[in-house]
Amino acid sequence: RQNERESLLIVLNFAKTFFQEALQKSDEGKSIGLSYFRERGLTNPTIDAFELGYSFDQWDALMQEGTRRGYNRDLLEKAGLVINKESEAGGNHKVFDRFRGRVMFPIHNVSGRVIAFGARILKTDKNQPKYLNSPETTVYHKSQVLYGIYQAKQTIRQEDICYLTEGYTDVISLHQAGIKNVVASSGTSLTTEQIRLIARFTPNVTILYDGDAAGIKAALRGLDMVLEEGLNLKLLLLPDGEDPDSYVHKVGAEAFKAYVKTESKDFIDFKAGQWLAEAGDDPLKRAEGISDVCASITRIPDPLKRQTLSQRVAQVFHVSEQSVISEINRLLRKQQ
Ligand code: CTP
Ligand code: MN
Ligand code: MN
Ligand code: MN
Ligand code: MN
Repeated sequence: RQNERESLLIVLNFAKTFFQEALQKSDEGKSIGLSYFRERGLTNPTIDAFELGYSFDQWDALMQEGTRRGYNRDLLEKAGLVINKESEAGGNHKVFDRFRGRVMFPIHNVSGRVIAFGARILKTDKNQPKYLNSPETTVYHKSQVLYGIYQAKQTIRQEDICYLTEGYTDVISLHQAGIKNVVASSGTSLTTEQIRLIARFTPNVTILYDGDAAGIKAALRGLDMVLEEGLNLKLLLLPDGEDPDSYVHKVGAEAFKAYVKTESKDFIDFKAGQWLAEAGDDPLKRAEGISDVCASITRIPDPLKRQTLSQRVAQVFHVSEQSVISEINRLLRKQQ
């Protein structure tokens, strides 16, 4: 078992280097992959820090080089690098590279070993997914991984806060802008394991999700889970249609940092803001909003924190603290 793990890590490291060399040394990689990263404003030190690469637009470039180096097909398949459709009838290419003609984002574990890849298509094509990711393997459990944790962990400790984004390029562009304490949940809805991984380095999390309907929905879903783990949470919604990557390129590093500083909201303000915008003067909607914020407060394990936060809810919604406390208690009883 230990042997299989180590073999997979070795073949994944080979693939990482193969993709890096393709990006930096081949004509195809330079003209397609490197120029793509350039267009997105990424510099060489950033490309190196995240070990970005390029996969050739061929059926089996990686498999050929891999088998030449003594990594057998079975191992390449177990690592998620090769797809085997040999059992199925028809077609010429029954065993082929999973990642072809894409820019490559290696996914590292906390200690910096490559355990998987994300791969982005270069041009929008509605017949193909924008990102292709490695499947679950012996060394890659998607729900337990945060993209960028290896590059971020030292700064997360130093700054005692972690920024949580949605995507690969959000992590990379913020890192380049000097905000290095950033990780991404990579599109999956946030998991408890991912939150516990952050908690190893800091109790403070700020969610920086995309400024679209999907981002708001994901933030609201992640919010309760972060509270449940006893972490301190802030949230920041990017302007409509922006994500951290696009926005930091638009306004620059300093303006982005200022924006985060002034616009991050605690979860009560964040939720109340959403509800009050929707409710207007409608008293029933407001009551629904209060109850919803109280429901999030019931997630917090520390009773003292719940108590002090009740005061804030009362202020924000202009109701008595007692009514907030009784709503929290009602919800807590209901959960038992
Ligand atoms: N994602 C994925 N598969 C997709 C789309 C998205 O795995 N088909 C994941 C990726 O990890 C991606 C994240 O979800 O980084 C956020 O998705 P999205 O906001 O659509 O992509 P961006 O990260 O903004 O990518 P880009 O800026 O390159 O368009
Ligand atoms: Mn960018
Ligand atoms: Mn998005
Ligand atoms: Mn995005
Ligand atoms: Mn983006």
